[in-house]
Amino acid sequence: MTNNNYTDEGYLTIALAKGRLAEISMDLFIKIGLDCAEMKEKTRKLIFTDEKNKIKFILVKATDVPTYVEYGAADIGIVGKDTLLEDGKNLYEMIDLHFGKCKMAVAGPKDMKDKLDSINNLRVATKYPNIALDYFQRQKGRTIEIIKLNGSVELAPLVGLSDVIVDIVESGMTLKENGLDVLEDICELSARFVTNKVSMKLHPERVMDIVKKLKEIV
Ligand code: PRP
Repeated sequence: MTNNNYTDEGYLTIALAKGRLAEISMDLFIKIGLDCAEMKEKTRKLIFTDEKNKIKFILVKATDVPTYVEYGAADIGIVGKDTLLEDGKNLYEMIDLHFGKCKMAVAGPKDMKDKLDSINNLRVATKYPNIALDYFQRQKGRTIEIIKLNGSVELAPLVGLSDVIVDIVESGMTLKENGLDVLEDICELSARFVTNKVSMKLHPERVMDIVKKLKEIV
């Protein structure tokens, strides 16, 4: 793992997953006294500085947050547990931030509920092949065929591309409006605070100060 330039300059770098998680993360950071004003403005910038607290915020695609933290390009990352489970990188998960709550589930047409355990070579469409394989093969001892998709996964069983899906369920509206049901729950998900070994060695006080303050408010 390499160390990053910002850390060398005395900055701590925090990678936020672009989108809704970043919005909520900013509100949390504001509450613990960090300056996110520049990031709150509508801009296409990807890097923001809180000069007073010597913090750099970077906005990255959710699935890339573990990579930035693993390589030390970011000291801290705020990212969904789904991304961490799928990615499988060796990061330190410090806090469950208790927002972005949802669950990973197997879903499909209602009549699949009784057939799920008997279909040979079940076809599973998902954005999360590792989570799906871990659940069906390792936990349930089933042989499945993974069909990797990048979005609108609920479509797959509707057009015969797959038997079921493994996906995130938040409000349940996407499933409901497409006539699908949750068949089995896999796990609960929420946003997590992660860091890496090098950052914990180089800046333990600074990282733990943020951890402590966040723990007090979540
Ligand atoms: C996610 C997820 C489901 C939906 C669940 O998709 O993959 O499709 O949200 O939310 P709900 O239970 O509140 O309806 P996302 O919005 O990220 O879009 P995508 O399908 O293009 O990945």
